[in-house]
Amino acid sequence: MNIAMIGSSYVGLVSGACLADFGHRVVCVDKDQAKIEALRQGRIPIYEPGLDQVVADNVKAGRLSFTGDLKEGVAQADVIFVAVGTPSRRGDGHADMSFVEAAARELAEVVRPETVIVIKSTVPVGTSDKVEHILLTHNPTLEVSVASNPEFLREGSAIADFKRPDRIIVGVNDERGRAALSEVYRPLYLNRSPVLFTSRRTAELTKYAANAFLAMKVTFINEIADLCEKAGADVQDVARGIGLDNRIGAKFLHAGPGYGGSCFPKDTTALIRIAQDFESPMRLIEATVAVNETRRRAMSRKIAAAVGGDLRDRTVALLGVTFKPNTDDIREAPALAIVQALQDAGAQIRLYDPAGMDAARTAITGVTFGNSPYEIAEGADVLVIVTEWEEFRALDFKTLKQVMKSPCLVDLRNVYRREDLARHGFRYFSIGRPDHDIPLSFIEAAE
Ligand code: UDX
Repeated sequence: MNIAMIGSSYVGLVSGACLADFGHRVVCVDKDQAKIEALRQGRIPIYEPGLDQVVADNVKAGRLSFTGDLKEGVAQADVIFVAVGTPSRRGDGHADMSFVEAAARELAEVVRPETVIVIKSTVPVGTSDKVEHILLTHNPTLEVSVASNPEFLREGSAIADFKRPDRIIVGVNDERGRAALSEVYRPLYLNRSPVLFTSRRTAELTKYAANAFLAMKVTFINEIADLCEKAGADVQDVARGIGLDNRIGAKFLHAGPGYGGSCFPKDTTALIRIAQDFESPMRLIEATVAVNETRRRAMSRKIAAAVGGDLRDRTVALLGVTFKPNTDDIREAPALAIVQALQDAGAQIRLYDPAGMDAARTAITGVTFGNSPYEIAEGADVLVIVTEWEEFRALDFKTLKQVMKSPCLVDLRNVYRREDLARHGFRYFSIGRPDHDIPLSFIEAAE
């Protein structure tokens, strides 16, 4: 099939490259000429493991190309995906639809009359109807079919997620759209990935429901972690204990400093606004957002407690700034709120991240950046794991102990075990796990 991908940022580029890998001919379109030029020269503007290879292979095979010219990009297309951004609108938290609407207006002038247009961006319920309306208003001769096909890929494992998805959700309201998307995703039938066809509104809502549910699940285990700390229980055992119940499932039960990233914060807020517009409030998600918001800053109190309560003139070495490993993305990263709170409390901050340093340098001020965990640990009062990069899973504690002012680790991702750190002479604080043996008297008292 001939496919055009409008928008060549994260979702557009990964989807375009993977669809080319399935054997389709794909043209990725973007207004940013510098981005298109970079892609043509084989430079990938985002950090995503494996993406450079998939792009290079498919460009070489003649299946993947890039253009800044919309008309040229869609000239041959049977199916056009719209994968432009829908950021949070300043002020009210609604999804900003201006890029989607602009794309629809521009497409109306240049598409072939019977093209299938597929909205891949995360969009509020009713957007496909609106896009269809814009297309027909601007060009009444069109007989386009508009479909909704939200994307569920995760940063850091985007290629695998696209090629072996748990499911594909397709919202269509005609046979033409259904047939075209069946053809697009036919290579996945071999993997037995279910392709669920439904209405456009249902598909649009499914994306928000999935992200909101996962954000809620993470927030739930985070609150259980807080309770574990007070009650002397172990959140990792609780997570395992509940996760083995098939109805709950083991994933997304890893307690930490709160969720971040380009999707969960934006999509939860947008769902709250959508629900309010339909006068059907999502109170669980409202609570999720509020709890997550306070949690990130609250992590600084944990760090303060580890150094005796007062952060003034203490040196805190932070490992990780990205919102999760295997990405250079720091959008809504817990680290940003933690840095701010630590600075407000008077701490000196040192920071190292394997991939997020460029982004951090532009977003964070008043911090000293280093090139390794050991460099930033030098003279530090406390070392804090904020993001669970592989590189932080086997730290050399002997060296760290020698260079640090005082051997103390705050592990906000529960990468280590207290016993192991105690062996190295470190004081150790983690999330939702007893920082000390539970005294027998406590157990007896509880009974
Ligand atoms: C998410 C969705 O998973 C994906 O389906 C959607 O398309 C886009 O949004 P992503 O933002 O890349 O993907 O990251 P994800 O792996 O889902 O993690 C989101 C946040 O939750 C991260 O900050 C992560 O650290 C946190 N998280 C996740 C936890 O704290 N604990 C967990 O158990 C899982």
